[in-house]
Amino acid sequence: MLDLAVMRATLAEAYDLAPSLTLAEEMRDIHARMDRVVPLPDFARHAPYIRAINRLKREKNAVILAHNYMTPEIYHGVADVVGDSLQLAIEATKVEAQVIVQCGVHFMAETSKILNPAKTVLIPDVEAGCSLAESITPEGIAQMRAQYPGAPVVSYVNTTAAVKAASDICCTSANAAQIVAAMPEDTVIMTPDQYLAQNVAKQVPSKRVVWWAGSCIVHEQYTAQDLREFRALHPETRIIAHPECPPDVVAESDFSGSTSGIIDYVTREHPSHAMLVTECSMASNIADALPDVDFVGPCNMCPYMKKITLEKILWSLHTGAEEVTVDPVIAAKARVAVERMIDLSRKIAK
Ligand code: 13P
Ligand code: SF4
Repeated sequence: MLDLAVMRATLAEAYDLAPSLTLAEEMRDIHARMDRVVPLPDFARHAPYIRAINRLKREKNAVILAHNYMTPEIYHGVADVVGDSLQLAIEATKVEAQVIVQCGVHFMAETSKILNPAKTVLIPDVEAGCSLAESITPEGIAQMRAQYPGAPVVSYVNTTAAVKAASDICCTSANAAQIVAAMPEDTVIMTPDQYLAQNVAKQVPSKRVVWWAGSCIVHEQYTAQDLREFRALHPETRIIAHPECPPDVVAESDFSGSTSGIIDYVTREHPSHAMLVTECSMASNIADALPDVDFVGPCNMCPYMKKITLEKILWSLHTGAEEVTVDPVIAAKARVAVERMIDLSRKIAK
């Protein structure tokens, strides 16, 4: 368990981390990417951390892979690569640096380690979990296989390495429908997200999709009624929902896609008003690139993603903690499921 008091005292001795408006002014190019959502006085608190992290990355031959749900100061300040789960998994296969700092949740760091067994993979807070990953174990996969003999198991990447190892292939929200459609069998088991599975079942009616009853604590909170009421009050708003939302919520939306699919859609369509039915940092991270779009409506915070902060990233680079390890036998099996997904995604994209 991370001792925050020790961490803060140690970092304060090693680095000049006092808030600095002068430094914030000097780093205006970075601040310009988050000007709309992070006022300069707030950026003055982040700037010393951003400077220290970027220096340490160079010294330690490290690269930061950050998910789209990271806060703007991480996303725009220190990340080398940003993306959705699929993009991060693909980028992890191309990393040349010796150290990967995964700014996202634990299953993402495990995926990077599975794909880079010889590299050091760090996660700034080992408690950055995921309600979906926690909802299923390899025993759950065995139970599904016993219930639906012969059906392939397509597991969302939001799973532990052990669950990936027990699955036939992985998927992300960006490719789930195509992966399920590509399975030769008529019945396909999807784990662990019941809502993603139900949304995919609608998109691929030729398959009988059966699912595990897990859910994302961020996206399950939205209701179709909320969206209908919002649309009645603000008919000009384009509603864009992540496929981890329940199917009736997705049905009320104008578009549904992975986090990067959402970014591409808003960038392409430039609606005057957009409601992103997903994690809060999504809108913050693209607000400055799209000054003519008003991001409206409520959003939900992922408490796991929000465990990753600039000071924990600095600590991680400073100390080399927490290193993510995966049992080599499990990693080898999990790699098959992840690489199958990446290969199939590349074929689909051609
Ligand atoms: P994507 O970025 O793949 O859409 O996934 C969203 C998510 O919930 C990751 O935890
Ligand atoms: Fe897991 Fe949902 Fe948080 Fe993504 S947003 S990490 S799926 S709990």
